[in-house]
Amino acid sequence: MTTIANILDTMEYGPAPEDASIVTDWLARHADGFGHFIDGSFTRPGETFEVMNPATGDVIARASQGTTEDVDAAVAAARKAQPKWAALSGHERARHLYALARHVQQHARFLAVLESLDNGKPIRESRDIDIPLVARHLYHHAGWAEIAKDEFPGTAPHGVCGQVIPWNFPLLMLAWKVAPALAAGNTVVLKPAEYTPLTALAFAGIVEECGLPKGVVNIVTGDGDTGGAIAGHKDIDKVAFTGSTEVGKLIRRQTAGSGKALTLELGGKSPFVVFADADLDAAVEGVVDAIWFNQGQVCCAGARILVAEAVADRFAGLLRARMETLRTGDPLDKCTDVGAIVHPVQLDRIKTLMERGVAEGAKLHQVAAPQGCFYPPTLATEVEPASVLATEEIFGPVATLTTFRTPEDAVALANNTRYGLAASIWSENVNLCLDVAAKVKAGVVWINCTNVLDAGAGFGGYRESGFGREGGREGMMAYLAHPKPRAKSGAKELPAPDAAPHAAGAESGIDRTAKLYVGGKQARPDSGYVYAVEGPKGPVGRAGLGNRKDIRNAVEAAAKAGGWGKATGHNRAQVLYYVGENLAARSAEFEQRLRSFGATEKAARAEVEASVRRCFWYAAQADKFDGAVHQTKPAHVTLAMHEPLGVVGIVAPTAHPLLGALSTVLPAIAMGNSVVLVPSQTHPLAATDLYQVLDTSDIPGGVVNIVTGPRDSLARTLAQHDEVAAMWYFGTADGCATVEADSAGNLKQTWVEDEAARDWSGGAGQGRGFLHRATQVKNIWVPYGE
Ligand code: NAI
Repeated sequence: MTTIANILDTMEYGPAPEDASIVTDWLARHADGFGHFIDGSFTRPGETFEVMNPATGDVIARASQGTTEDVDAAVAAARKAQPKWAALSGHERARHLYALARHVQQHARFLAVLESLDNGKPIRESRDIDIPLVARHLYHHAGWAEIAKDEFPGTAPHGVCGQVIPWNFPLLMLAWKVAPALAAGNTVVLKPAEYTPLTALAFAGIVEECGLPKGVVNIVTGDGDTGGAIAGHKDIDKVAFTGSTEVGKLIRRQTAGSGKALTLELGGKSPFVVFADADLDAAVEGVVDAIWFNQGQVCCAGARILVAEAVADRFAGLLRARMETLRTGDPLDKCTDVGAIVHPVQLDRIKTLMERGVAEGAKLHQVAAPQGCFYPPTLATEVEPASVLATEEIFGPVATLTTFRTPEDAVALANNTRYGLAASIWSENVNLCLDVAAKVKAGVVWINCTNVLDAGAGFGGYRESGFGREGGREGMMAYLAHPKPRAKSGAKELPAPDAAPHAAGAESGIDRTAKLYVGGKQARPDSGYVYAVEGPKGPVGRAGLGNRKDIRNAVEAAAKAGGWGKATGHNRAQVLYYVGENLAARSAEFEQRLRSFGATEKAARAEVEASVRRCFWYAAQADKFDGAVHQTKPAHVTLAMHEPLGVVGIVAPTAHPLLGALSTVLPAIAMGNSVVLVPSQTHPLAATDLYQVLDTSDIPGGVVNIVTGPRDSLARTLAQHDEVAAMWYFGTADGCATVEADSAGNLKQTWVEDEAARDWSGGAGQGRGFLHRATQVKNIWVPYGE
């Protein structure tokens, strides 16, 4: 028994349970089950499923399994409401979001208790982290609603957004999704995770209470099938998903070719790097926040501790001692550090992975945890880099500990993952921290801190952690579109190029056969074949018939040209000016080439002139399209850095053979990417004429690679290639669908369009939008001030 005397003896805390009656009363009033929230009111419960308190195993509510009819009704309500919602002034939308924020604050205690009951997270976290961040997000986006018209000129909301969220931060993920969507003028159909639907339903009550126009927010509960019905719904314009990488890939394939915008915030296996000169006590507290926060069920959890060999033993000792003081247990106890795992299914998943890890040789250090749906805080050592514990997202309170010798080793280990969500770096040497921050492949980097979040900074991943950002300016942009003609213009399938042996090019004494351009050198196509390029009056030349092997060689060359991304904007600008100058010097040749394809003299001149100007425009932008510094939390600033994507596969539009190629290649290389270009299949020679221009313009070999040949099959090889980070395709509707579906393998970012939907010669052929497409934002949290 705990007595005052033995408390003083042990300095143990007594239990400090939060009163849950406010929530249990509410649940009792809904004992018949919850319906969905559609078109401003709750439906009658349909077929229901059990909602459990994982800490006790008690069924606390029943929620409805959303059917396709429910999803149809919700989408119809959202569709009907959207034009009016978008037509409100920014100020009016801001007032609505502001009201939501205020009401969340008024109900903060209720929401915190409900979240802890439903999810199992400690009340300390739901009270001090989740719910305050929900309110913060709504306030921040009330601000964006107010000023969106000025800040994002020329944009429009997507329309109806389908949003599917996970169970780890149920209400916070809802706020991350709903707030920017509404601020931008979209309406939403949101599905919470089946384990944790209750705070979303409570939020629906708040929506009602605030008098939001009917149909602006619709909440449909249910499982993955309901989620699939939303993601695949034909009348949804944008899908936003947070959850497992596996389901993210399914959704990528499901939405391929639908024209829907898509953002995916997926899993992670984030490194937590401790250098020898780190403040080890602070770093130990960092680990607590990195992996024991929310029972480790955090997509950006610092799950892989990488520690300098010199301090590894000391650090591990400190960490073990700190683990002993973690209190795992009743989520509603205000003294609890680690709560319940969300659901027995998730607990089983963790246990299975851990058994595999132990079978592979991992040694576990675990501290006490209650029976039931709890998993003890765990430190796993002797974990090989390729083993399951080092590679799979465990999504439980389990950190692995690995040592490194040099900063280079640390970076290599940190990047040794298919994910790229976050990284945490600990050292008192800020030079070292910033050097490593630049080298880690992660969308969020925390220096001497971890898991710090704010609505004013973007959040989202690289690689298989998904694409798109939530929060801040980038997050708003994900909910706004640059209007373009929606109607498909019916770009045509191209006939397969007629293959002839390569040698046939030399019949007239001069070899008029254009080769491929790989790694800064002209290369014969692997097939040994060429195809005839037709002008209006018959063949005008031959181009190499590229194949999969050529694409692979080109990607390899492009991947080796990574140094280009590290060059300064000024360096890149100079090279692009030079390209423009050399192109201008050869204007007559290029005009002649375009005329051989049937362009009039005037059109040919205009195309070359526009191409030269575009070189200068992107040269001008190369050292100006910068990131931002966000003032987020006290004692921090957040540097939003624009980083190149890596290797970009570009399938250029067929029309405008020169301008189309340059309009896409220039923004990509201006931002430091390297490119594999498949130029116009029918008129590739204007692009192959660029070889000399590139050779004389100091573009390093491998930055631009050109493979001519059958557009759509080359596009597929590019889309399937894991070294390609992003894919831009301008062709047919079928090609768009195939490229999007094929890109799911490594979740590359895609930009696909019917090639004729854009006027490449006008303003739509150039702009900052292209530069946004060519970059990804890395948000680096840096200590600043006190
Ligand atoms: P999940 O990805 O299956 O669930 C997330 C959401 O997607 C839920 O709302 C679910 O109903 C929905 N969903 C499931 N299948 C769907 C489909 N085919 N189409 C549309 N929506 C679908 O995640 P799950 O199974 O709950 O957790 C499994 C693992 O996923 C975890 O152990 C963890 O590793 C990872 N995960 C990662 C999260 C993150 O934030 N990165 C969040 C949740 C899970």
